[in-house]
Amino acid sequence: MKGVTKVLQLKDFVNKQVTLAGWLYNSRSSGKLLFLIVRDGTGLCQCVVEKAKVGDELFNKLEHLGQESSLTITGTVRADERSIGGYELAVTDANIIAESSDYPITPKEHGTDFLMSNRHLYLRSQKPWCVGRIRHTVIDAVRRFFNDNGFILVDAPILMSLAGEDMQSLFEVDYFGRPMYLTQTGQLHIESAAMSFGKVYCFGPTFRAEKSKTRRHLTEFWMVEPEVAFIDLAGLLELAENFVSYIGKRVIEDNSKELQNLGADIEAIKNVTPPFYRLTYSEAVDILKSEKTQTFLSQQLYGFKEQKEKIEKRIIELEEQQKGKIEQWKKEKNAAEIIDLRSELDDLNAKIENNPKHARLAAEFNWGKDLGGSDETIISQMHDKPVFVTHYPKQAKAFYMKTDRINPKVVENFDLLAPAGFGEIIGGSIREDDYDMLLKRIEEENLTVVNYQWYIDLRRYGSVPHGGFGLGIERTIAWLTGERHIRQCIPFPRTMDKVYM
Ligand code: 4AD
Ligand code: MG
Repeated sequence: MKGVTKVLQLKDFVNKQVTLAGWLYNSRSSGKLLFLIVRDGTGLCQCVVEKAKVGDELFNKLEHLGQESSLTITGTVRADERSIGGYELAVTDANIIAESSDYPITPKEHGTDFLMSNRHLYLRSQKPWCVGRIRHTVIDAVRRFFNDNGFILVDAPILMSLAGEDMQSLFEVDYFGRPMYLTQTGQLHIESAAMSFGKVYCFGPTFRAEKSKTRRHLTEFWMVEPEVAFIDLAGLLELAENFVSYIGKRVIEDNSKELQNLGADIEAIKNVTPPFYRLTYSEAVDILKSEKTQTFLSQQLYGFKEQKEKIEKRIIELEEQQKGKIEQWKKEKNAAEIIDLRSELDDLNAKIENNPKHARLAAEFNWGKDLGGSDETIISQMHDKPVFVTHYPKQAKAFYMKTDRINPKVVENFDLLAPAGFGEIIGGSIREDDYDMLLKRIEEENLTVVNYQWYIDLRRYGSVPHGGFGLGIERTIAWLTGERHIRQCIPFPRTMDKVYM
């Protein structure tokens, strides 16, 4: 709209008159003064309305305006440190565009289920707004990193005739009477493109029919996958650590306010610089089975219990306050805190229950299995930076991974575990480039060889050492923001048990 200023630009308009266009986020009145918080997509601004300045009629209209009504509002910009965003508007005029009443999401208490089933409206709230802006930066950083480093973007298909990972998690689609699948990975296709361009990447939605209700699994998620011809495992790890460090740096640069609002650990993100830790799978297994890990876990359990006690005390304290006579705003603030604390408590209870189970799984871990979620959590909790785990047992990993020529029991692969217990955000490998060995692996996995003929064919015409990896966007965002569940890290989540809209 002509003549409209954005909240984000207010710093350039101090003592000048501007008009904002947005929605009413919250309001509070003291009879003669009205404090309207307006959001315009770029931020929040407190707009102060004085009855004496705007007259009774407009004042009354604004005083009774419902949350999320749309309006334009005009006034003089004042710098004020105490105000949300550091600036406020001394209002001279306002124009209501469309009224809203009984908006279901109030700034006070709401549980996760309620918010998820009102996702179409919840997107306007502060938390998803902050996460959404960070997602925007992460995706921009992903493209920028590869574009600036000589990679060519190659779009992989979404409808696939073959499985890229495992047969169990395929979504089947009826394709004119024959089965096709939603893509699990673009990797196989962009391997062919890497033989054309050298360095390529694909970036798009991927699908896994995983019967997994953990907070790390979506059935539809976004993955970026670089693939490079003439690279070895050491080179691939370097690429991955530079890439992840760049994403962290960009989020710190562009979104420190949002990170702060979400309570993210900014110092920990600043610490994400190369080199990351490097462990082989066998070393990781030794750590899991060590005395040190058992001590670490029992100390952790003790910490969880202490924390639980503290939270329970605080909840009782707040509930006492709620029973007494307190101001409305304080009541709402307390109610929101209680909700947060209860959800933290649920989390802690689960951790307390799981701790002994995870300790046992770690102690009894047998070489040969893939690392489980809890094993990854333990390893990543014991490190303050991301950890590469390399050289997994062949039988635990996908058919396309290159067999280590020195130790053929393992493959030349890696998973990258984010720190602070978050777990895997990247999976990658050097690809089997020998025709016969690849064919043998495909047969061993009972995959239909004819479907993979074009893929095996790449090994017939000038095969070269090559490799790549896939980074899950939502897991990366969850790790950076400290969000508990990755469903909060995609605007319209799809999980096994629920699709909301
Ligand atoms: O480890 P994955 O399965 O690796 C591949 O798909 C390879 N083909 C990638 C490659 O080498 N080009 O998946 C890669 C990443 C995981 O580390 C994780 O971050 C994410 O994708 N991911 C999921 N994210 C959310 N929900 C799920 N169900 C996910 N499955 C994998
Ligand atoms: Mg993986």
